Amino acid sequence: MLYLQSQKEVSDSLSQVGYLPSTEIATAVFLATKLSKPILVEGPAGTGKTELAKALSKAFSLELIRLQCYEGLDESRALYEWDYRKQLLALQAHADREVQSIFSSEFLLERPLLAALRGGAEKILLIDEVDRLEVETEALLLEVLAEFQVTVPELGTVVATSKPIVVLTSNGMRELSEALKRRALYLYLDYPSQARELDIVRTAIPGIEETLAERLVSIVARLRSMDLKKSPSIAETLDWGRSLLALSVESLDDEILASTLPILLKNRADIERALKELLPRVS
Ligand SMILES: Nc1ncnc2c1ncn2[C@@H]1O[C@H](COP(=O)(O)OP(=O)(O)OP(=O)(O)O)[C@@H](O)[C@H]1O
Ligand SMILES: [Mg+2]
Repeated sequence: MLYLQSQKEVSDSLSQVGYLPSTEIATAVFLATKLSKPILVEGPAGTGKTELAKALSKAFSLELIRLQCYEGLDESRALYEWDYRKQLLALQAHADREVQSIFSSEFLLERPLLAALRGGAEKILLIDEVDRLEVETEALLLEVLAEFQVTVPELGTVVATSKPIVVLTSNGMRELSEALKRRALYLYLDYPSQARELDIVRTAIPGIEETLAERLVSIVARLRSMDLKKSPSIAETLDWGRSLLALSVESLDDEILASTLPILLKNRADIERALKELLPRVS
């Protein structure tokens, strides 16, 4: 079991792999390991929800197992499936074989939830975009999240040899069930503060000029304060920074701002609105 001393240790370890956490993030991770509880991370697109799980895996050298959720995901994709082909071959090869014998772990195909529990070593289990599951399918997750075990009717209960650190993410497309929320620690990931986003930019784009980085982050903050259909995310801030670097831009004038705005805003009405507010003289 991963043993962490403090939130600071979490924060330092994540920073070392390029993920700069807020105090809330570091606290949630620390508590998740102490209490052996999943973290449910909710928030707008591009705020670092998925990346948190990836960064944890890197920071603590733990294997990352990912379950990407989608409508229609079922038990056979999430938990396990019987390897029918192998079962059939086994029966054909030994006609006198008892049917029960082909329902043993040798014939089981592990899917992410089961794989995260088996195999001894502690892992990071990322259950990504859980709000895409139908409410009824959410129930599939509950046993794993609460008890760290999976029941396979033919085999019995598979209990985790080592409890994984579980990160669930959601864009808030729908309310998650109370049963799921009750089992997890809740972390709301909003857009970062300007100071933290500046740190993220400096870390991810080492070649960027300080004044340009500051300007970039402050324009992004201003865009987020406007009533747009889709605010720019951290990923878009970084794309913008890298683009400006590729264009060898040293200072951001109105023309460059106008021509590169579509890197940040991917909606015509948003672009027009932002141009009006940022560059009232030009537009
Ligand atoms: N705290 C952070 N430190 C460093 N980089 C970050 C941080 N948060 C986000 N990023 C950057 O933002 C990008 C987008 O983050 P991520 O893919 O995790 O978003 P998300 O919240 O999962 O979005 P979606 O809801 O669209 O899946 C990451 O690839 C990373 O480059
Ligand atoms: Mg994501």
